[in-house]
Amino acid sequence: MIKLAPSILSADFSELKKAVQLVDESGGHMVHIDVMDGHFVPNITLGPPIIKSLRKHTKLPFDVHLMISNPDKYIEDFHKAGADILTVHAEATPHLHRTIQYIKSLGMKAGVALNPATDLSCLKYIISDLDMVLIMTVNPGFGGQDLIPACINKIKDLSNYVKANSLSVEIEVDGGINLSNIEKFIKAGANILVAGSAIYNSSNPSKSIEDFIKRFSEFEGKE
Ligand code: DX5
Ligand code: ZN
Repeated sequence: MIKLAPSILSADFSELKKAVQLVDESGGHMVHIDVMDGHFVPNITLGPPIIKSLRKHTKLPFDVHLMISNPDKYIEDFHKAGADILTVHAEATPHLHRTIQYIKSLGMKAGVALNPATDLSCLKYIISDLDMVLIMTVNPGFGGQDLIPACINKIKDLSNYVKANSLSVEIEVDGGINLSNIEKFIKAGANILVAGSAIYNSSNPSKSIEDFIKRFSEFEGKE
């Protein structure tokens, strides 16, 4: 199944409750929440208190993308705030195996994100423990950037690896995704698509979500 994870990074931060409810009402599958610390990436966004305050406004899974150094220090806080899927960057933690086991021990799904220049080989000894791999298709830190084309081959390589090894890991893609380029991502093997500016910077965010979902149905069964 192809799923849409609208990223509230591009929403109006004074209206986050509405931004989250809109995902629910328009048929989105999960809410993608970008956490940035001004250290691992050159931008600062939000943390556990805001996630906690949004938790009561939807039953949809919270797909929390941590772009922070030392993620281990905050994993329990994100769990308590209501994260369902917690994704850490491979580049941000020296003990990836330990970090992943910690996330799973708290009952959350665990994902690993890779920056555009990070090779897939770093996943070899951890991928069978993962629920999700997040391939960044822009350099993390900001919404509204253009897709880096070389990342499409990386998605294909990962998808081939997942199939060849009969793994059940989901492949999420994040950055520069819009209605006119989703075909590339889906054909490459991605099954969770994050979109921020394409939804929240559009004149009608609800309709944008519905348009994505409609387009997905054209690809269902063909990936
Ligand atoms: C970027 C974030 C993305 C961002 C995507 O660092 O991880 O989730 O919101 O935004 P768009 O869809 O505008 O590229
Ligand atoms: Zn993200």
